Amino acid sequence: MSNLLDTSVAPPWVSSRRSTGAAAALDHAAAAGARRAIHLACRGLQKSYRKGPLGIPVLQGIDLDVREGEFLAIVGPSGCGKSTLLHLLGTLDQPDAGVVTFEGHRIDDLPAAARDLLRNRHFGMVFQFYHLLPELTTLENVLAPALIAESTIGYWLRRSAHRRRAWELLELVGLAHRARHKPRELSGGEMQRAAIARALLSRPKVLLADEPTGNLDRSTGEQIMHILGELNRRERLTIVMVTHDPWIAGQADRTVHLAEGRIQQG
Ligand SMILES: Nc1ncnc2c1ncn2[C@@H]1O[C@H](COP(=O)(O)OP(=O)(O)O)[C@@H](O)[C@H]1O
Ligand SMILES: [Mg+2]
Repeated sequence: MSNLLDTSVAPPWVSSRRSTGAAAALDHAAAAGARRAIHLACRGLQKSYRKGPLGIPVLQGIDLDVREGEFLAIVGPSGCGKSTLLHLLGTLDQPDAGVVTFEGHRIDDLPAAARDLLRNRHFGMVFQFYHLLPELTTLENVLAPALIAESTIGYWLRRSAHRRRAWELLELVGLAHRARHKPRELSGGEMQRAAIARALLSRPKVLLADEPTGNLDRSTGEQIMHILGELNRRERLTIVMVTHDPWIAGQADRTVHLAEGRIQQG
């Protein structure tokens, strides 16, 4: 699969606007000779939700750098804004203030179609409740992103390559023997492994995982953490995982704490 960033032409999801303010500060930080390049980052992220006349402030100025190949855990109590932050980093939602950058390009202010393209190509997502489509088999669920991202003709032209990749991923997560099963015939851990395989179909650079073990018992959660750790080490996949569980967070390379709308230092 071709890498959009390898071309000399700006990829379609790159904003034509020049970096200003906080984004320029990030460019500067990236250029300052960090050991590993900053892959995904944010500065001054703010987000509130509206409930009638009331504004509920959730994120109140988040600064975060995720380096290429890093496995970062964001830990904090339920309701502190972890999912909100992950959605902003993954361009599933837009901040009220602040910037998000990916490989030095601002991404939070892109038009919706460019954000969709960016997510399809470069971000894989995994959620607590798997979000598998119940009528599809495991294999079909893993293939679903290709079906959604491409036209029917485009999909059929590349069908065998997609299927090869899907089978490889099912092997990788140890689920090839469940390829023809429907989600209701899978255990929680198997459903999460199917969701991880699906997230990797497009060979994303970053995996965003929202409480990936939150619905699993400890030993099944450990298996999922083992798979994520191997993907990080062997494939150099950048992983940003949010969790309320300090033990799960401890499996990552680095942990940051989110509380009262901010990243707590130390
Ligand atoms: N769409 C929404 N509308 C209103 N409030 C929301 C919405 N989504 C989340 N919230 C509130 O924002 C806060 C943070 O939510 P969330 O990011 O889901 O926290 P976490 O993932 O850490 O449990 C919570 O108080 C939650 O009730
Ligand atoms: Mg959450």
